[in-house]
Parts: sequence; structure tokens; C-alpha cells
Amino acid sequence: MEGTQIRVSSGAGPEVLRSRPAEPCTIIIFGVTGDLTHRKLVPALYNLLREGDLPEKFAVIGTSTSVTSAAEFRTQLRESVSKFSRTKPIDEAVWKAFADRIETCVADVNAPDDYTKLAKVIEEVEQRLGLPGNRLYYLAVPPGVFPTILRNLRASRLLYPTGSTRWSRVVVEKPFGHDLASARELNRTVAEVIDESQIFRSDHYLGKETVQNILVFRFGNSIFEPIWNRKYIDHVQITMAEDLTVERRGKFYDATGVLRDVVQSHLMQVLALCAMEAPATFRADDIRDEKFKLLRSLRPITTADVATDVVAAQYRGYRDAEGVSKTSRTPTYVALKMWIDNWRWQGVPIYVRAGKGLAARDTEVSIYFQTIPFCLFGSEEVCQRIEPNVLTLQIQPHEGIALRFGCKVPGEDLSVGSVTMDFSYADSFKRAPWEAYERLLLDAMRGDHTLFARRDGDEQAWSVLSPILEAWESGRDPLPEYAPGSAGPAEADQLLRRDGRRWRPLG
Ligand code: BG6
Repeated sequence: MEGTQIRVSSGAGPEVLRSRPAEPCTIIIFGVTGDLTHRKLVPALYNLLREGDLPEKFAVIGTSTSVTSAAEFRTQLRESVSKFSRTKPIDEAVWKAFADRIETCVADVNAPDDYTKLAKVIEEVEQRLGLPGNRLYYLAVPPGVFPTILRNLRASRLLYPTGSTRWSRVVVEKPFGHDLASARELNRTVAEVIDESQIFRSDHYLGKETVQNILVFRFGNSIFEPIWNRKYIDHVQITMAEDLTVERRGKFYDATGVLRDVVQSHLMQVLALCAMEAPATFRADDIRDEKFKLLRSLRPITTADVATDVVAAQYRGYRDAEGVSKTSRTPTYVALKMWIDNWRWQGVPIYVRAGKGLAARDTEVSIYFQTIPFCLFGSEEVCQRIEPNVLTLQIQPHEGIALRFGCKVPGEDLSVGSVTMDFSYADSFKRAPWEAYERLLLDAMRGDHTLFARRDGDEQAWSVLSPILEAWESGRDPLPEYAPGSAGPAEADQLLRRDGRRWRPLG
């Protein structure tokens, strides 16, 4: 029943699709003392309750080796919700209803006996609150621990087989694996323990409204799809720029780097949504089939390509961050040129860049259309000024869509300039979009996989990027540096200049 949607007709108005409600369940969070729980998961659950989207009956059980008593933990979470919730100030009545359903269990994921203890806490809470026993396990822990937790959950009978009257599902956070081999290994373990329908690989980019809108924009309008191909598009730029540096995450980041942190997951998903064919239906597996097909069409990157088409760099000062090795060669920036070998995209370069410590926070996809075939407007100087049309899907922070086109500059002479037509979510819808984690948690409770990565797609994304990781890891030369607060290294500009193109300015 995954992805089931209820069609609601509102009188003479347009038909809207509403997803089915979430079923009563117990949410068990592993790694509950970490940042993810405090900044994202718990504020998201609180807001879902506030919006009336949580099931009537639910409970949250936090587990880790160092979690405090439930009372103390609720106080800590209240602080986090006041700080990180998208809605402020905290609604006391909602908070009370939420806090009453929070429990804790001190447990070590590596100690099999502790799962018996956890099982007791879960059963006690379920009985007390009249819950039916549906369970959502959220693994907010590093991927290296997933297999241990999964095996122990199974050994302690905390996972139900598929087809049971009650369900159990497991949500894991990206990165799913460290490279292709470890992702495959992890997937094999998962497959031994649970069914693919029970695993939810979370990539929070897929929960963003603007990312979800890519498919609606492409397939809910008739004017864009006919020109969404090699005949009209010159090239595509995908950017994920962050002004933040690695902050307090130096140790994690130094072992991860930009490609694993955001390209293999977030940007490969965004690329797939922008370039895939129309799915047969809007159901989860039809969409995931098309994304996988697109990822399979990405041209393999060879070692020789890494030297010419990939730029890796580090922001100056990165190696002084806490937890980062003084001799680190971990890239904090990458720019690369990719190709899609299929009928729609043959010959259209896709430039992807991502980095930390840059001039602005800016995630967007820009579709550059081809230049006009012939200029009618007299002088060489005017013709030179005519820029190609660019359609920009602004994912964040200024969520919207912009179209650049040429326009006569008012006045007597025939002078042409570029103007931009802008749609902004904030102005049009007058309310803050949901946080990605709200949507993802709700969908996991509904059993809808549409916004979660599937095994084949995830492994394919690793497979495409592996040669780059291997080349970097076998290299010895120091990486080029870029100034913090800049647009990135000069080498990345050169990558496009060589092709007669330029990056869109950040911000
Ligand atoms: C995470 C990365 O997945 O995404 C972080 O691990 C990054 O390094 C973050 O900062 C960016 O997310 P967002 O939603 O702020 O673009």
C-alpha cells in the first residue's frame, strides 16, 4: 500500500491529492543525545503534532548509553525545540501533550542484553499508552553501527517479519556506506535482516519542498517538458554552496569530505529528479525506477577524467579546525563535469559544484538554454549583450524559481538587456515551508517510500563517484586552496572557462 494517496475533490475546485494518515506507532530513536535528534528530529515531531499530523496515539523512546532520565531528557528537549523549531514560541499545550509521550532507555547498541531492556521499556510504554505495537526505529548514529543494531534488533525479536499485523520500519541516515564496497556490504546486511520495504534511507534533501517541486514543475506544466532536452538546453549547473565551515564537525568531516557528505546523496538525487524521464505513475517505485535509470545513464568517470573534469579544493584554514588532521587532503569543495548518455541529454554537460566556507548559502539548479541562432538587432555590440535564457530552480535559501530572458531596454535605441521573472514560495504561499524532517518522518510513519533512496539508486550513485574517491585517496599532492568567503578555487572557474562558460554568481 506504499505511496497510497486519497483523491479529494473539493467541490468545483481543483482536485487535490492527500496522503493517507500516519498510523499509531512507537518511534524509537537510537543516538538520541546527538545533534540530529535535538536540532531536527524532535522539533520535527513537535511540529507534526502541532499541525495535527501525528497519529492520535504515539510515543517517542530515546536510547543511547548516556541518555538521562525521562524527566531530565524532556527538559533538554524543550530547550532544543524552543531553539530549533521552525515555529516559535513553543505552544505550551502542544509541548505538554508531546512531552508526556517521551520516554528514555539507557542502552549500549553493542550489548545484546541491553536490547532485552529496551524491549521491556517499549512494551511498557505501548501498554501504558494503548499503542498497537507498530515501531519506527530511527538510527541517528554513524553508518558503521547500523549492522550491529539491525542484527541485535532481529535477535531480540524487535523486528516483525513482513506480512505481520503490526509493522516495524527502520530509518537510516545518509551517507549509507563510505564507498561502493561498504554500501554494498551494508545493503547485504540489511537484506539479511529486513525486507527492502521496511528500510527507509533518509536523504533530507528529498524532504525539501523545493526538491519535491522539481517533478511537479516539470510534469505539472506543459510548456517546459518539450524544451527540456539537448535540442534546447546548452548545459546545466547544479550548485550547493554553504557559507558555513565544518564548525564543530571536523572529525566527522575529515573522514567524509564533500563528495561523500553531500554529492553522493543530495546532489545525485537532485540531478536525477531534474533529468529523469516521466514516471509511469507518481507512486514510489515508479519514481525510483526512473531515478535509477537516469543514474545508470551517467557516463562513468575514468581516472583520466578525474584529472581534467574534476576539481577538488580545501578552504584556507580547514586544517586548523578541531578534529581535522594537520596534513589532511580531504576536499571541502568539488566541481565536476558530468555527462548523461541517453537520447534526451547526449552532449549536454552537467556541471556540479559543492563546498563549504563559500561566499553564500545557495543551493540551486540552473538550466542554461541555447543562445539565439541569429541576431536581428543590428550592431555587434547589442548582439553580444544578449544572454541565453536561464531557468533557475532555487532550492534554498530563497526558495523559488526564476527565468531570465532578454528584453528591450526602454528608450529610443534598440538596446537589449536581461531581466528576471521571479517566483518566490514565501511571497506566493505566505507561510514557511515544512522542515524536510517533518515530511520524511511523517512519510516513514505512513510507509511511503517516495522520498527515500532505494538500494539500487544509492549503490549506483556510489558507483559513479567511486573513481573520483579512489583517485583522490591515492593522490599525494596538496589540494588547491580557496579563500574562506570566496566563490571557490580559481581551478573551478577554469573548468567552465575552458568550455566557454561561467558559473552563475553565488547568492
Ligand atoms: C548534510 C551535510 O547532509 O547537509 C552537512 O552532512 C550540510 O555537511 C547539510 O551542511 C546541509 O543541509 P542544508 O539543508 O542546510 O542544505
